[in-house]
Amino acid sequence: MKKVGILGVGKYLPKKILTNADLEKMVDTSDEWITTRTGIKERHLVAPDEATSDLAVKAARQALEHAQLKPEDLDLIIIATITPDVPFPATACFVQNKLGAKNAICFDISAACAGFIYALGIAKQFIASGTCRNALVVGAEVLSSITDWKDRSTCVLFGDGAGAAVLGEVEKGGILSSYLGCEGQYTNLLYMPAGGSRMPASQKTIDERQHFIKMAGNEVFKIAVMSMVEAAQTALKQAGLKCADINWIIPHQANLRIIDAVAKRLGFVNAKIYLNIEKYGNMSSASTATAMVEAAQEGGIKKGDIVLLVAFGAGLVRGATIIQW
Ligand code: ACO
Repeated sequence: MKKVGILGVGKYLPKKILTNADLEKMVDTSDEWITTRTGIKERHLVAPDEATSDLAVKAARQALEHAQLKPEDLDLIIIATITPDVPFPATACFVQNKLGAKNAICFDISAACAGFIYALGIAKQFIASGTCRNALVVGAEVLSSITDWKDRSTCVLFGDGAGAAVLGEVEKGGILSSYLGCEGQYTNLLYMPAGGSRMPASQKTIDERQHFIKMAGNEVFKIAVMSMVEAAQTALKQAGLKCADINWIIPHQANLRIIDAVAKRLGFVNAKIYLNIEKYGNMSSASTATAMVEAAQEGGIKKGDIVLLVAFGAGLVRGATIIQW
Protein backbone atom coordinates (compact mmCIF):
# COMPACT_ATOMS: atom_id res chain seq x y z
CA MET A 1 0.00 0.00 0.00
CA LYS A 2 1.23 3.51 -0.83
CA LYS A 3 1.74 6.14 1.88
CA VAL A 4 -0.83 8.92 1.58
CA GLY A 5 -0.38 12.47 2.83
CA ILE A 6 -1.59 16.03 2.46
CA LEU A 7 -0.03 17.93 -0.46
CA GLY A 8 -1.89 21.23 -0.09
CA VAL A 9 -4.52 22.98 2.01
CA GLY A 10 -6.97 25.88 1.55
CA LYS A 11 -9.97 27.52 3.19
CA TYR A 12 -12.72 30.02 2.52
CA LEU A 13 -14.97 31.88 4.93
CA PRO A 14 -17.82 33.99 3.57
CA LYS A 15 -17.47 37.74 4.19
CA LYS A 16 -20.53 38.47 6.36
CA ILE A 17 -19.94 38.24 10.12
CA LEU A 18 -22.74 37.77 12.66
CA THR A 19 -21.64 38.68 16.20
CA ASN A 20 -23.16 37.68 19.53
CA ALA A 21 -24.32 41.29 19.82
CA ASP A 22 -26.23 40.87 16.53
CA LEU A 23 -27.86 37.69 17.90
CA GLU A 24 -28.96 39.57 21.03
CA LYS A 25 -31.21 41.60 18.71
CA MET A 26 -32.68 38.47 17.06
CA VAL A 27 -33.45 36.09 19.98
CA ASP A 28 -33.55 36.15 23.79
CA THR A 29 -29.84 35.54 24.41
CA SER A 30 -26.71 37.36 25.57
CA ASP A 31 -23.05 37.58 24.61
CA GLU A 32 -22.27 36.44 28.15
CA TRP A 33 -24.40 33.23 27.84
CA ILE A 34 -23.02 32.31 24.43
CA THR A 35 -19.40 33.00 25.39
CA THR A 36 -19.41 31.13 28.69
CA ARG A 37 -21.52 28.16 27.48
CA THR A 38 -19.83 27.67 24.11
CA GLY A 39 -16.73 29.86 23.57
CA ILE A 40 -18.25 31.38 20.40
CA LYS A 41 -18.02 35.14 19.76
CA GLU A 42 -18.95 35.39 16.07
CA ARG A 43 -19.62 33.30 12.95
CA HIS A 44 -19.45 33.87 9.17
CA LEU A 45 -22.57 33.61 7.00
CA VAL A 46 -22.99 33.26 3.23
CA ALA A 47 -24.38 35.94 0.94
CA PRO A 48 -27.79 35.16 -0.65
CA ASP A 49 -26.11 34.03 -3.90
CA GLU A 50 -23.54 31.72 -2.25
CA ALA A 51 -24.07 27.95 -1.87
CA THR A 52 -21.90 25.16 -0.46
CA SER A 53 -20.14 24.45 -3.77
CA ASP A 54 -19.12 28.13 -4.08
CA LEU A 55 -17.34 27.98 -0.71
CA ALA A 56 -15.83 24.58 -1.55
CA VAL A 57 -14.44 25.77 -4.90
CA LYS A 58 -12.68 28.76 -3.32
CA ALA A 59 -11.08 26.57 -0.65
CA ALA A 60 -10.19 23.95 -3.28
CA ARG A 61 -8.45 26.46 -5.60
CA GLN A 62 -6.22 27.55 -2.70
CA ALA A 63 -5.41 23.92 -1.83
CA LEU A 64 -4.58 23.07 -5.46
CA GLU A 65 -2.28 26.08 -5.73
CA HIS A 66 -0.55 25.07 -2.49
CA ALA A 67 -0.14 21.52 -3.82
CA GLN A 68 1.08 22.90 -7.17
CA LEU A 69 -1.44 20.77 -9.02
CA LYS A 70 -3.95 21.56 -11.77
CA PRO A 71 -7.66 20.67 -11.55
CA GLU A 72 -7.11 18.03 -14.29
CA ASP A 73 -4.64 16.27 -11.97
CA LEU A 74 -7.48 15.35 -9.59
CA ASP A 75 -9.01 11.92 -10.05
CA LEU A 76 -11.25 12.03 -6.98
CA ILE A 77 -13.36 14.77 -5.35
CA ILE A 78 -15.17 14.10 -2.05
CA ILE A 79 -17.25 16.85 -0.48
CA ALA A 80 -18.17 16.28 3.17
CA THR A 81 -21.40 18.16 3.77
CA ILE A 82 -24.87 17.98 5.32
CA THR A 83 -25.92 21.11 3.43
CA PRO A 84 -25.47 20.15 -0.24
CA ASP A 85 -26.35 22.69 -2.96
CA VAL A 86 -29.37 20.48 -3.85
CA PRO A 87 -30.45 16.98 -2.62
CA PHE A 88 -29.00 15.60 -5.87
CA PRO A 89 -26.72 15.55 -7.77
CA ALA A 90 -23.80 15.54 -5.36
CA THR A 91 -22.19 18.89 -4.55
CA ALA A 92 -18.91 17.30 -5.68
CA CYS A 93 -20.31 17.32 -9.27
CA PHE A 94 -20.83 21.10 -9.13
CA VAL A 95 -17.34 21.53 -7.70
CA GLN A 96 -15.86 19.37 -10.47
CA ASN A 97 -17.52 21.49 -13.14
CA LYS A 98 -16.52 24.85 -11.61
CA LEU A 99 -12.91 23.73 -11.14
CA GLY A 100 -12.68 22.04 -14.54
CA ALA A 101 -11.51 18.82 -12.84
CA LYS A 102 -12.87 16.68 -15.65
CA ASN A 103 -10.99 13.49 -14.68
CA ALA A 104 -12.36 13.21 -11.15
CA ILE A 105 -14.76 10.66 -9.63
CA CYS A 106 -17.25 12.74 -7.61
CA PHE A 107 -19.38 12.03 -4.57
CA ASP A 108 -20.47 13.54 -1.23
CA ILE A 109 -20.16 12.14 2.27
CA SER A 110 -22.86 12.81 4.89
CA ALA A 111 -21.14 12.33 8.22
CA ALA A 112 -21.98 15.71 9.78
CA CYS A 113 -19.21 17.13 11.95
CA ALA A 114 -17.00 14.07 11.45
CA GLY A 115 -17.44 14.38 7.66
CA PHE A 116 -14.00 15.77 6.89
CA ILE A 117 -12.32 12.95 8.85
CA TYR A 118 -14.56 10.36 7.14
CA ALA A 119 -13.68 11.83 3.72
CA LEU A 120 -9.94 11.83 4.48
CA GLY A 121 -10.17 8.15 5.49
CA ILE A 122 -12.03 7.23 2.28
CA ALA A 123 -9.71 9.22 0.00
CA LYS A 124 -6.72 7.58 1.65
CA GLN A 125 -8.04 4.12 0.65
CA PHE A 126 -8.45 5.16 -2.99
CA ILE A 127 -4.87 6.46 -3.19
CA ALA A 128 -3.22 3.77 -1.06
CA SER A 129 -4.73 1.06 -3.27
CA GLY A 130 -3.54 2.79 -6.45
CA THR A 131 -7.08 3.45 -7.74
CA CYS A 132 -6.50 7.22 -7.70
CA ARG A 133 -3.41 9.44 -7.65
CA ASN A 134 -4.63 12.82 -6.35
CA ALA A 135 -7.79 13.49 -4.34
CA LEU A 136 -9.52 16.68 -3.26
CA VAL A 137 -11.34 16.47 0.07
CA VAL A 138 -13.44 19.44 1.20
CA GLY A 139 -15.46 19.99 4.37
CA ALA A 140 -17.99 22.63 3.29
CA GLU A 141 -21.19 23.78 4.96
CA VAL A 142 -23.86 26.44 4.74
CA LEU A 143 -25.41 25.58 8.10
CA SER A 144 -27.19 28.95 8.10
CA SER A 145 -29.54 27.44 5.47
CA ILE A 146 -30.87 24.82 7.94
CA THR A 147 -30.63 26.91 11.13
CA ASP A 148 -33.84 28.01 12.81
CA TRP A 149 -33.12 31.67 13.48
CA LYS A 150 -36.00 31.73 15.98
CA ASP A 151 -34.57 28.91 18.14
CA ARG A 152 -32.04 30.38 20.59
CA SER A 153 -30.86 26.95 21.72
CA THR A 154 -29.34 26.23 18.30
CA CYS A 155 -29.05 29.42 16.23
CA VAL A 156 -26.19 30.81 18.33
CA LEU A 157 -24.01 27.78 17.60
CA PHE A 158 -23.55 27.49 13.83
CA GLY A 159 -21.67 29.16 10.97
CA ASP A 160 -20.71 28.71 7.30
CA GLY A 161 -17.32 27.95 5.72
CA ALA A 162 -15.08 25.49 3.89
CA GLY A 163 -11.69 23.85 4.36
CA ALA A 164 -9.93 21.75 1.71
CA ALA A 165 -7.04 19.34 1.41
CA VAL A 166 -5.39 17.80 -1.64
CA LEU A 167 -4.12 14.28 -0.95
CA GLY A 168 -1.55 12.23 -2.81
CA GLU A 169 1.29 9.78 -2.39
CA VAL A 170 4.10 10.80 -0.02
CA GLU A 171 7.46 9.20 0.72
CA LYS A 172 7.34 9.53 4.51
CA GLY A 173 4.66 9.98 7.17
CA GLY A 174 1.23 10.99 5.90
CA ILE A 175 -1.97 9.46 7.30
CA LEU A 176 -0.81 7.03 10.00
CA SER A 177 -4.24 5.90 11.15
CA SER A 178 -7.90 6.55 10.50
CA TYR A 179 -10.66 5.45 12.86
CA LEU A 180 -14.30 5.95 11.83
CA GLY A 181 -17.30 4.95 13.92
CA CYS A 182 -21.02 5.48 14.51
CA GLU A 183 -23.55 5.00 17.30
CA GLY A 184 -26.75 4.88 15.27
CA GLN A 185 -28.97 4.50 18.32
CA TYR A 186 -28.57 8.26 18.85
CA THR A 187 -29.90 9.50 15.48
CA ASN A 188 -32.84 11.12 17.30
CA LEU A 189 -30.61 13.50 19.28
CA LEU A 190 -29.49 15.63 16.34
CA TYR A 191 -31.23 15.70 12.97
CA MET A 192 -33.34 17.57 10.44
CA PRO A 193 -36.78 15.92 10.42
CA ALA A 194 -38.21 16.91 7.02
CA GLY A 195 -37.14 17.07 3.40
CA GLY A 196 -36.22 13.39 3.04
CA SER A 197 -38.25 10.27 2.16
CA ARG A 198 -39.50 9.92 5.77
CA MET A 199 -41.18 13.32 5.71
CA PRO A 200 -41.18 14.93 2.25
CA ALA A 201 -41.47 18.71 2.07
CA SER A 202 -45.03 20.00 2.34
CA GLN A 203 -46.79 23.15 3.51
CA LYS A 204 -47.28 21.37 6.87
CA THR A 205 -43.54 20.61 7.33
CA ILE A 206 -42.71 24.22 6.51
CA ASP A 207 -45.34 25.61 8.88
CA GLU A 208 -44.05 23.29 11.64
CA ARG A 209 -40.42 24.42 11.06
CA GLN A 210 -39.31 20.84 10.38
CA HIS A 211 -36.62 21.83 7.85
CA PHE A 212 -34.25 23.04 10.54
CA ILE A 213 -31.64 21.44 12.81
CA LYS A 214 -33.21 19.86 15.92
CA MET A 215 -30.81 19.05 18.70
CA ALA A 216 -30.99 17.75 22.27
CA GLY A 217 -27.88 19.75 23.14
CA ASN A 218 -27.44 18.48 26.67
CA GLU A 219 -27.68 14.81 25.65
CA VAL A 220 -25.29 15.30 22.75
CA PHE A 221 -22.83 17.07 25.05
CA LYS A 222 -22.62 14.10 27.44
CA ILE A 223 -21.96 11.56 24.68
CA ALA A 224 -19.61 13.87 22.73
CA VAL A 225 -16.85 13.87 25.32
CA MET A 226 -16.52 10.08 25.69
CA SER A 227 -17.05 9.59 21.97
CA MET A 228 -14.13 11.86 21.07
CA VAL A 229 -11.90 10.38 23.79
CA GLU A 230 -12.56 6.82 22.56
CA ALA A 231 -12.04 7.81 18.91
CA ALA A 232 -8.72 9.50 19.69
CA GLN A 233 -7.52 6.55 21.79
CA THR A 234 -8.41 4.09 19.03
CA ALA A 235 -6.57 6.12 16.37
CA LEU A 236 -3.51 6.37 18.65
CA LYS A 237 -3.56 2.61 19.21
CA GLN A 238 -3.89 1.89 15.49
CA ALA A 239 -0.89 4.15 14.78
CA GLY A 240 1.14 2.62 17.63
CA LEU A 241 1.51 6.05 19.28
CA LYS A 242 1.03 7.54 22.74
CA CYS A 243 -0.53 10.88 23.74
CA ALA A 244 2.99 12.24 24.34
CA ASP A 245 3.83 11.71 20.64
CA ILE A 246 1.15 14.13 19.43
CA ASN A 247 2.26 17.70 18.54
CA TRP A 248 -1.12 19.14 17.49
CA ILE A 249 -4.74 18.34 18.32
CA ILE A 250 -7.33 19.61 15.87
CA PRO A 251 -10.68 18.89 17.57
CA HIS A 252 -14.16 19.47 16.20
CA GLN A 253 -15.13 23.00 17.26
CA ALA A 254 -18.63 22.52 18.68
CA ASN A 255 -18.14 23.76 22.21
CA LEU A 256 -15.05 24.93 24.10
CA ARG A 257 -16.20 23.04 27.21
CA ILE A 258 -16.32 19.78 25.21
CA ILE A 259 -12.80 20.40 23.87
CA ASP A 260 -11.46 21.15 27.37
CA ALA A 261 -13.05 18.01 28.82
CA VAL A 262 -11.67 15.82 26.00
CA ALA A 263 -8.13 17.24 26.33
CA LYS A 264 -8.22 16.73 30.11
CA ARG A 265 -9.36 13.12 29.86
CA LEU A 266 -6.82 12.22 27.21
CA GLY A 267 -4.03 13.81 29.27
CA PHE A 268 -2.04 15.31 26.40
CA VAL A 269 1.15 16.88 27.65
CA ASN A 270 3.09 18.17 24.64
CA ALA A 271 0.29 18.89 22.21
CA LYS A 272 -1.00 22.30 21.18
CA ILE A 273 -4.76 22.47 20.65
CA TYR A 274 -5.83 24.55 17.65
CA LEU A 275 -9.04 26.52 18.23
CA ASN A 276 -11.08 28.67 15.88
CA ILE A 277 -14.49 28.24 17.52
CA GLU A 278 -14.42 31.82 18.85
CA LYS A 279 -14.47 33.36 15.36
CA TYR A 280 -16.42 30.76 13.33
CA GLY A 281 -18.73 28.77 15.69
CA ASN A 282 -19.59 25.18 14.73
CA MET A 283 -19.32 24.70 10.94
CA SER A 284 -19.85 20.91 11.06
CA SER A 285 -17.47 19.21 8.59
CA ALA A 286 -15.82 22.56 7.81
CA SER A 287 -14.72 22.99 11.44
CA THR A 288 -11.95 20.37 11.60
CA ALA A 289 -11.11 21.18 7.97
CA THR A 290 -10.56 24.93 8.48
CA ALA A 291 -8.87 24.37 11.85
CA MET A 292 -6.37 22.00 10.22
CA VAL A 293 -5.80 24.43 7.36
CA GLU A 294 -5.25 27.38 9.71
CA ALA A 295 -2.98 25.40 12.01
CA ALA A 296 -0.88 24.59 8.94
CA GLN A 297 -1.01 28.08 7.39
CA GLU A 298 -0.74 30.26 10.49
CA GLY A 299 -0.48 28.17 13.60
CA GLY A 300 2.87 26.64 12.89
CA ILE A 301 2.49 22.92 12.14
CA LYS A 302 5.97 21.99 10.97
CA LYS A 303 7.17 19.21 8.67
CA GLY A 304 7.35 15.99 10.67
CA ASP A 305 4.80 17.12 13.30
CA ILE A 306 2.20 14.56 14.31
CA VAL A 307 -1.35 15.91 14.14
CA LEU A 308 -4.51 14.35 15.59
CA LEU A 309 -7.90 15.31 14.12
CA VAL A 310 -10.88 14.19 16.19
CA ALA A 311 -14.61 14.85 15.79
CA PHE A 312 -18.14 13.68 16.56
CA GLY A 313 -21.45 14.73 15.04
CA ALA A 314 -25.01 13.87 14.05
CA GLY A 315 -25.47 10.13 13.67
CA LEU A 316 -23.91 10.08 16.19
CA VAL A 317 -20.75 9.58 14.15
CA ARG A 318 -17.20 9.91 15.32
CA GLY A 319 -13.79 9.83 13.76
CA ALA A 320 -10.12 10.41 14.48
CA THR A 321 -7.14 10.44 12.20
CA ILE A 322 -3.44 10.86 12.84
CA ILE A 323 -1.32 12.55 10.19
CA GLN A 324 2.43 13.02 10.15
CA TRP A 325 2.92 16.32 8.31
N1 ACO B 1 -29.20 32.09 25.33
C1 ACO B 1 -29.64 32.12 26.61
N2 ACO B 1 -30.14 31.04 27.24
C2 ACO B 1 -30.19 29.90 26.56
C3 ACO B 1 -29.77 29.79 25.22
C4 ACO B 1 -29.26 30.95 24.61
N3 ACO B 1 -28.83 30.97 23.34
N4 ACO B 1 -29.95 28.53 24.80
C5 ACO B 1 -30.46 27.84 25.83
N5 ACO B 1 -30.63 28.68 26.91
C6 ACO B 1 -31.14 28.37 28.24
C7 ACO B 1 -32.03 27.14 28.27
O1 ACO B 1 -33.36 27.49 27.94
C8 ACO B 1 -31.87 26.70 29.70
O2 ACO B 1 -32.69 27.52 30.50
P1 ACO B 1 -33.47 26.88 31.77
O3 ACO B 1 -32.40 26.37 32.69
O4 ACO B 1 -34.25 28.04 32.31
O5 ACO B 1 -34.31 25.77 31.21
C9 ACO B 1 -30.43 27.06 30.05
O6 ACO B 1 -30.03 28.04 29.06
C10 ACO B 1 -29.48 25.88 30.00
O7 ACO B 1 -29.69 25.16 28.79
P2 ACO B 1 -28.84 23.89 28.42
O8 ACO B 1 -29.34 23.33 27.12
O9 ACO B 1 -28.82 22.96 29.60
O10 ACO B 1 -27.40 24.53 28.25
P3 ACO B 1 -26.02 23.81 28.07
O11 ACO B 1 -25.09 24.25 29.11
O12 ACO B 1 -26.20 22.32 27.84
O13 ACO B 1 -25.51 24.42 26.69
C11 ACO B 1 -25.32 23.81 24.39
C12 ACO B 1 -26.27 24.23 25.49
C13 ACO B 1 -24.34 24.94 24.14
C14 ACO B 1 -26.13 23.55 23.13
C15 ACO B 1 -24.55 22.52 24.80
O14 ACO B 1 -25.44 21.58 25.30
C16 ACO B 1 -23.75 21.91 23.68
O15 ACO B 1 -22.78 22.46 23.21
N6 ACO B 1 -24.13 20.67 23.25
C17 ACO B 1 -23.42 19.95 22.22
C18 ACO B 1 -23.73 20.51 20.87
C19 ACO B 1 -22.95 19.77 19.84
O16 ACO B 1 -21.78 19.56 20.05
N7 ACO B 1 -23.57 19.31 18.74
C20 ACO B 1 -22.90 18.38 17.84
C21 ACO B 1 -22.38 18.94 16.61
S1 ACO B 1 -23.53 19.75 15.59
C22 ACO B 1 -23.74 18.82 14.11
O17 ACO B 1 -23.38 17.69 14.02
C23 ACO B 1 -24.46 19.53 12.99
